[in-house]
Amino acid sequence: MNSSSSSSRRRRRRRRKERVRWIQHYNNGQKILLVGEGDFSFSACLARAFGSAVNMVATSLHSQELLKVKHWTSEAELQTLERLGCLILHEVGVNEMGNHPTLSRMKFDVVIFNFPHAGHFPGFCERDEELIG
Ligand SMILES: C[S@@+](CC[C@H](N)C(=O)[O-])C[C@H]1O[C@@H](n2cnc3c(N)ncnc32)[C@H](O)[C@@H]1O
Repeated sequence: MNSSSSSSRRRRRRRRKERVRWIQHYNNGQKILLVGEGDFSFSACLARAFGSAVNMVATSLHSQELLKVKHWTSEAELQTLERLGCLILHEVGVNEMGNHPTLSRMKFDVVIFNFPHAGHFPGFCERDEELIG
């Protein structure tokens, strides 16, 4: 194999890596903040589809300890996210995240809060505004 064919192969590989990947509304060039993740399966799915999570910050309202109890499946998802370079933050409340020591220094192109739901409270039903995070 001569050096010009191997260098053109390297260029092709680099171009493939640099290609923007769109998944519905999101692409791998956007800085994406995920808020209110449950078991982190959505973040992990997006990261796998992008092949990288270096542009993603995935957050949960819960502490690491509580997350293990509430969502035992989160462990595998968190491993995937870590492997793909995601920044993972726990105990992030959507209403206070503007004062978060790490998040307040960052800028994002997209903020995703899927199915924002504050839990079940007596006297409220699912569509009551008070329950939306
Ligand atoms: C119905 S679950 C949806 C979980 C996840 N976003 C998904 O789509 O699979 C609602 C989530 O909102 C989170 N949540 C509720 N109130 C919140 C708040 N004030 N700040 C951040 N997250 C909140 C809960 O911890 C829970 O994980």
